[in-house]
Amino acid sequence: MMDVTVLRVGHRLCRDARISTHVALTARALGAKKIVYDAEASEVRESVEGVVSQWGGDFQVEYAEKPLKYVREFDGIKVHLTMYGLGLNEKIGELLNLEGNLLVIIGGGKVPADMYHIVDYNISVGLQPHSEVAALAVFLDRLFSGKSIDAGYENANVSVVPQKAGKKVISA
Ligand SMILES: C[S@@+](CC[C@H](N)C(=O)[O-])C[C@H]1O[C@@H](n2cnc3c(N)ncnc32)[C@H](O)[C@@H]1O
Repeated sequence: MMDVTVLRVGHRLCRDARISTHVALTARALGAKKIVYDAEASEVRESVEGVVSQWGGDFQVEYAEKPLKYVREFDGIKVHLTMYGLGLNEKIGELLNLEGNLLVIIGGGKVPADMYHIVDYNISVGLQPHSEVAALAVFLDRLFSGKSIDAGYENANVSVVPQKAGKKVISA
């Protein structure tokens, strides 16, 4: 399985806390190891780290002041999700043959034009504009062949017991 880091570019401190948190929780729940933001947002970090301490695993939150530099120096394959890229269905076979570290870049506000040229792949999840959360979820689900949503997490204080109806959460 590849080690996946997600880089969220264009986090706007004044308006993006909720969606940036959702990006991180989606990354964690669908198999990524780490989220990197291009702005230090303490409320987002606290919220994500709170989920990790309750629900387990070792998902990391980091901050990179210069996202283009982070991408250039990343030791692995770099995939930028954008509606202008090559289709996921066309490229997923090739991506599934890769090994090692994978960096998945998603935008929020405008993504710097250079990003399109310094990555290994620009990949679209359909050719319609939608959301970084949706694009990331579909991409990771395909990358892990649908298996990551069934993964368990070590050191969890709580976990869900699936129910036909109602809610059951048990403490460790
Ligand atoms: C508000 S959208 C901006 C849409 C943008 N015009 C684009 O390049 O995809 C924010 C982010 O969602 C992701 N995104 C939105 N639609 C996408 C699609 N169809 N395929 C892949 N990524 C998408 C991209 O990472 C984008 O930077």
